[in-house]
Amino acid sequence: MTRIPRTVPAIVLALLLSVPLAVTAIEITGTVVGPDGEPVVGARVTAERGDPARGTTVFSNADGHFVVPALDPGTWELRVRRIGWRDLSREVHVPGPGLSLTLQPEGDPEALAAQLPANRWFGLFLEQIDDPGHREQFVRQCTYCHQQGSPATRVPREDWQWEKVLHLMARMGGGLSPEVRAQVPGWFNAAYDPAHAVPRLTAGMGEADFAPPPPAEVRRAVIDEWVLGGRASMQHDLMVHPSGHVYSVDMMQDELFRLDPETGETQRFPISDSGLPLGGAFATSGPPLQPNANARVGPHSLQAAPDGSVWVTLALGNQLARFDPSTEEWSIYPMSEGFYPHTLRIDDAGRVWFTIAGSNHVARFDPETESFETIRLPAANWRQAVILRLLPLFLWIAQNVEIDPEVAGEGAASMPVPYGIDIAPNGDIWFSQLNAHKIGRIDPESFEVELVETPFSAPRRLRFDSKGRLWIPGFSSGVVSRFDPETRAFETWDVPIEPLGSETPYALHVDHSTDTVWICGTNSDSLIRFEPESEEFLVYPLPTRVTYTREIDFDAEGRVWTSNSNAPTWQIERGQPRVIRLDPRTRVRELAATP
Ligand code: HEC
Repeated sequence: MTRIPRTVPAIVLALLLSVPLAVTAIEITGTVVGPDGEPVVGARVTAERGDPARGTTVFSNADGHFVVPALDPGTWELRVRRIGWRDLSREVHVPGPGLSLTLQPEGDPEALAAQLPANRWFGLFLEQIDDPGHREQFVRQCTYCHQQGSPATRVPREDWQWEKVLHLMARMGGGLSPEVRAQVPGWFNAAYDPAHAVPRLTAGMGEADFAPPPPAEVRRAVIDEWVLGGRASMQHDLMVHPSGHVYSVDMMQDELFRLDPETGETQRFPISDSGLPLGGAFATSGPPLQPNANARVGPHSLQAAPDGSVWVTLALGNQLARFDPSTEEWSIYPMSEGFYPHTLRIDDAGRVWFTIAGSNHVARFDPETESFETIRLPAANWRQAVILRLLPLFLWIAQNVEIDPEVAGEGAASMPVPYGIDIAPNGDIWFSQLNAHKIGRIDPESFEVELVETPFSAPRRLRFDSKGRLWIPGFSSGVVSRFDPETRAFETWDVPIEPLGSETPYALHVDHSTDTVWICGTNSDSLIRFEPESEEFLVYPLPTRVTYTREIDFDAEGRVWTSNSNAPTWQIERGQPRVIRLDPRTRVRELAATP
């Protein structure tokens, strides 16, 4: 008679119990270690495949273990990445055995410096600027389309090459005062000279605290990415629809995208050009600037109305658009007044409120009467007020006469630029004036306007929490602030991305179920979570280098959505825009033993 070891029934039981798990969720499991077998903690493990690509990223835990959850069977490209270690990539088959992955330390300082996010390089650039006003101007004017300090931007160049780059940037709206402009090439070349930058960025390399792993709470997260659109696309903003679909707008190709996260299926809905030329209402006499941009209406921001319709501002077309998800049809409403409709919110009655960035207005559109009410906001002085009233004339001139873009660019830097907008629980409308360093309130009935100065520069996309307090990111000041409309008090925190000031938080959003604040880590490839109760910040590193984010939304499960809208798209790692979902609450099954 054979003797059965006492452990066998336990193993059989364990196998039986694990069967349903193996059937319902196919995973990639494994351990990340260094050359001596020591666990590598907080490595980002990404499984990706397909065209368009779809990827899932998790972090290795304190023992180096990881589980990439719920994947379709087949071959996946696996990438393991941790600052201080060489990237590792290989093909894996699902289902397959547990993996043991060994990383090699990165010993080449130049390669190590290249692993760091753009903001770390940008910190060196900012050190070059002595005058705080000049620094603020550069940050506000040069970081609102793409990251600064990224591989594409940190290339040392000859003066004449800088001349060419700065001329092009000014034409696109990145204008600088002549004083700042003259110094920019010198600052760039001094900061990004590898002989200066690499030793600074890699000081202390090889030491344990050189690049500490993210905390355990962050390492629980699961991050999904979907490539959406082509190499010439720019997914400016995105929105989670009550149906669970995710919509985003391609500002360069005039399309609305719809992603079904369950199936990965995407659909595109082109937006009519209404017979407008390239560049829409802002077409100039010169050639279109980005060779691959085909924008005539320029969809910018989007929101769902109580009836489920999707409203989109068409920034270049000076229009508001409504998309009906059931009929898949568009209605387009040309604005009666103003230039460059921007961010929008919809009130309980279904009326659409939006900022008009170019002409310093806020407008309200009533779908019942199909009419606009346009509210002119205060300008800083009479000169601005006159310029703003003459905008139609300036646009006519730009369309018909070649004007010096340097002149136009500098003027734009000082215009108020109404930006973010949100609706308070009591129905008041609040907005920011980006360049004026102000926020303001509009009475929704009388349209009376009042302005409040912010104690920090460049208030950008603001949002209310569930208790009616207004959260504001300071773009060029690298802060997040809470404003209480009752007491008129601001409370302000530095966004804790080192070196301080190198982060440019573009937008934030508040999850009303917990009042947790999520902030775009726009220049550091991250999403930043802030818990107001404990005043604790958590920084979630995102998988793709050069992830530039401008908007945040939440799904019904409390997952955080954003899109990578660095413009130009080619500067993004692997050159395509992605939409991103971060699940902060996933508690991936812990592995019991080293496989
Ligand atoms: C309105 C959007 C916008 C703003 C604002 C902007 N840029 Fe750019 N930037 C671009 C685009 C688009 C490109 C890519 C151009 C191309 O490849 O055709 C680019 C490319 C660059 C490059 C890389 C050029 C190359 O040869 O690869 C540098 C450097 C740069 N920008 C610096 C700046 C600076 C400095 C400022 C502020 C003065 C600035 N940008 C402001 C849109 C912008």
